[in-house]
Amino acid sequence: MNYLLGVDLGTSGTKTVLFDEDGNVIASKTIEYPLYQEKNGWAEQEPEDWWNAVVQGVQAVLQASGVDVADIKGIGLSGQMHGLVMLDENGEVLRRSIIWCDQRTGEEVEDMNRMLGAEKIIQITANPAVTGFTAAKILWVKKHEPELYAKCAHILLPKDYIRYKLTGEYATEVSDASGMQLMDVAKRTWSDEILEGLGIEKRLLGKMYESQDVTGEVHQEAAALTGLAAGTIVVGGAGDNPAAAIGTGIVSQGKAFTTIGTSAVVYAVSDRMALDPKGRVHTLCASVPGKWTVMSCTQAAGLSLQWLRNHVCTPEMAEAAEKGVDPYEIMTAEAARVPIGSEKLIYLPYLMGERSPHPDPDCRGVFFGLSAMHERPHLIRSVMEGISFSQWECVEVFREMGVPIEDMMICGGGGRSPFWRQMLADMYGCSVSTVQSDQGGALGAAILAGVGAGIYSDLETACDALVRKKDSSEPNMAANGAYAKYFTLYKELYRTLFQSFKDLKNI
Ligand code: XUL
Repeated sequence: MNYLLGVDLGTSGTKTVLFDEDGNVIASKTIEYPLYQEKNGWAEQEPEDWWNAVVQGVQAVLQASGVDVADIKGIGLSGQMHGLVMLDENGEVLRRSIIWCDQRTGEEVEDMNRMLGAEKIIQITANPAVTGFTAAKILWVKKHEPELYAKCAHILLPKDYIRYKLTGEYATEVSDASGMQLMDVAKRTWSDEILEGLGIEKRLLGKMYESQDVTGEVHQEAAALTGLAAGTIVVGGAGDNPAAAIGTGIVSQGKAFTTIGTSAVVYAVSDRMALDPKGRVHTLCASVPGKWTVMSCTQAAGLSLQWLRNHVCTPEMAEAAEKGVDPYEIMTAEAARVPIGSEKLIYLPYLMGERSPHPDPDCRGVFFGLSAMHERPHLIRSVMEGISFSQWECVEVFREMGVPIEDMMICGGGGRSPFWRQMLADMYGCSVSTVQSDQGGALGAAILAGVGAGIYSDLETACDALVRKKDSSEPNMAANGAYAKYFTLYKELYRTLFQSFKDLKNI
């Protein structure tokens, strides 16, 4: 039997999964690490923590599975997108990574628009300048830490740092690299015009591949450390969302998925490069050759619920510990007892500023309508509703852009809850389905490795064979009408508070 390894480098931890060639999970291990938030709106992680998590994860799955490492035919990497990893000429990490949800780069976004012109940025990179993407983070380091920038010899994305540690290659692939805002997204290559305009040297960037291409082989040192066989191929892989798209079978037009993890994303594949001139959603290269994607990103989705769990839901945490269950199960059951609209409580999920559909680093979270009658279950439900309203608002943008959504899949932690799936189906007004394997990004990365290793002929064939629908939630249109009243107000609240968010920032 052939085996494939998928490594998914997330924000809360890295999940390493060994699959057989039929897509069955043989062994899986997740190792967590911290997120550093030294200032309001900042978010950093330690690349060494990621690498240690990969080493320990690989060791654990090899030991648990007992497979002969020679039968592992390929490795696929999937990872949190947009993060900035800077290495010196010896390949040593120069500073903590400034990750995707960091919002410190408001000024750099203005600089980018001045340097290149807002229209040119959209025309070439397929997105308006955004705080979350890597280019603005590079400019921030260049401006605020010039001595450190002078030592920078390599710029990599998070999962591409793992590739470097495994293979010694400085490389990336189109799906993740298009979230750096340094590419000509239509041509699927680095853009000389953008790089020159921003004063970023091309030699700092990795070699560009398609996601399924072989980018290198595990070297002796990494093999000795992890237990993998030296010479095992490592394919391009994909950003975590494009990888999850493959893991849920979203490889052709008309198909879309919602994922609720730390962030939440709605992602649809398109045969053409569809742009939103208002920049409310992103356009990127898909990890399927010759296809593009439209993607939204709600910065603090699962993060909002995690925040509520950690700082408000102490009794639910205690009950969960006592019963040996996940605290989110108890929280969700409490939310389900509260009616639609959380008895007039609306949550805006802007704990980390926002990207879609409001690219705005300065907005912050809000509970609107808080009353003395509200209890913790109301807060939980309104947080879940607020996160879901944000997805609904993004789906409205997709529909306005003419991106067809005929089939909505769901994955990520949020997708495991039938209650949350039903809420999304009711809001979207279409069925929302899970897939049999809930391995999302790790499965997508492994499928890419299987194509690179020649086990599958192409991604479409592999997904047809390996990805199966499981549960579907059908929309209840009466519930849709009840949510719609709150949704209208939810959308208005951002506009009403727009200036107040700026004033708060300036205090
Ligand atoms: C997508 C994004 C997030 C991260 C989370 O644009 O920034 O979904 O990839 O891991």
